[in-house]
Amino acid sequence: METLIRVAIVTGGASGIGRAICTQLAGKRVFVVVADIDEMGGKQTVSIIEKEGGRARFVRLDVTNAAQVNAMVNNVYKEFGRLDYMFNNAGIAMYGELYDMSLEHWERIVNINLWGVIHGTQAAYPLMKKQGFGSIANTASAAGLGPSPTAAAYATTKHAIVGLTTSLHYEAETFGVKVCALCPTFVNTPIFSNGEGINMDKAKISAQLQQKKMMSPEQFARIALKGLDRNQLIVCPMPLRRTMDIFFILFPAIHRRLIRFFRNAARQANVSHTKQT
Ligand SMILES: NC(=O)c1ccc[n+]([C@@H]2O[C@H](COP(=O)([O-])OP(=O)(O)OC[C@H]3O[C@@H](n4cnc5c(N)ncnc54)[C@H](O)[C@@H]3O)[C@@H](O)[C@H]2O)c1
Repeated sequence: METLIRVAIVTGGASGIGRAICTQLAGKRVFVVVADIDEMGGKQTVSIIEKEGGRARFVRLDVTNAAQVNAMVNNVYKEFGRLDYMFNNAGIAMYGELYDMSLEHWERIVNINLWGVIHGTQAAYPLMKKQGFGSIANTASAAGLGPSPTAAAYATTKHAIVGLTTSLHYEAETFGVKVCALCPTFVNTPIFSNGEGINMDKAKISAQLQQKKMMSPEQFARIALKGLDRNQLIVCPMPLRRTMDIFFILFPAIHRRLIRFFRNAARQANVSHTKQT
C-alpha cells in the first residue's frame, strides 16, 4: 500500500454539502470514504471523484446505528493505519409548529442529526487522540446559534452539536486533534425539498426559500475545509454574522422583534394556521 495516504470519512457524502466536501478532499489527494444511507447517491459521489482522478469508496451506513458507525470507523483506521478527517455531516430537515410534532418526529430527527454526530465523534476521537493528529468537523447549522421558530427540533439538534463540538474543541486541541462546528445557513442542496414539513405547505416553504440568496455546496465546502485547517471553533459564513451578533447583544429588543418577524413569515406555510399572536 502507498505510504502516507491521507484518509477521510464523510457521512452524508451522497449529496449536497457532504458530496462537495468529498470531491474537494479527493482533489487534495485524500482517500475518501463516502458513508451514507443512500447507496445510489454515494456511488455517484465515488464515480465523480474517480472520473477526476481521485480515490474513494462507498460504504452504506446508517448513522443512527452506533455499532455500524463504530465498526466502519475502526475498519478504516485498521486498513489505512490512520484517520485524518471525520466529517459527521449526515442530517435531515424538519419544519413545523411544536404543537404539531409527535415524539416520533423528535426521535427521528434526534437520532439522525444528533446521535449520528455523537456516534461518529465517539468512534473517531479516541483513534485520533491515540495517533496524535486528525480533524473532526461536525455539521451543525446557523440554526444551532440562535432561535428558529417553526424548526424547534432541528434547532435543538444543531444547538446540541455546537455544544458538543465547541466543548470538545478545547479538550482535543491538547492532543493535536482539531474539532470544528460547521454552521451553514442557506446552501443550495436537496435538504429543503427532502425535509419533512409537518402540517406545512412545502410549496410555500420553497417559495420563501427561493427568495433567499443561496450559497453553492462547493463554495461552502471550500470555506469549511479552510476553517477546519485553521482550527476554527465555528465556521459560519453568514454575511454580516459578527455585526449581527454585536447588534443583537447591544439591541436585544430589536433582535426579538426580528425573530418574531421570521416566525410570522415561516408560519405562512402552516396549512392549519389561523391567526396567532
Ligand atoms: N443546506 C443547508 O442550507 C444547510 C444549512 C444548515 C445546516 N445544514 C446541514 O448540513 C448537513 C448536510 O446537509 P445537505 O444540505 O448537504 O443535505 P442533503 O440532503 O443534500 O444531504 C444529507 C445527506 O445525509 C444523508 N443521510 C440522511 N440520513 C442518514 C442516515 N441515517 N445515515 C446516513 N446518512 C444519512 C442523506 O442520504 C444525504 O445524502 C446536514 O447536517 C444539514 O442539517 C445544511
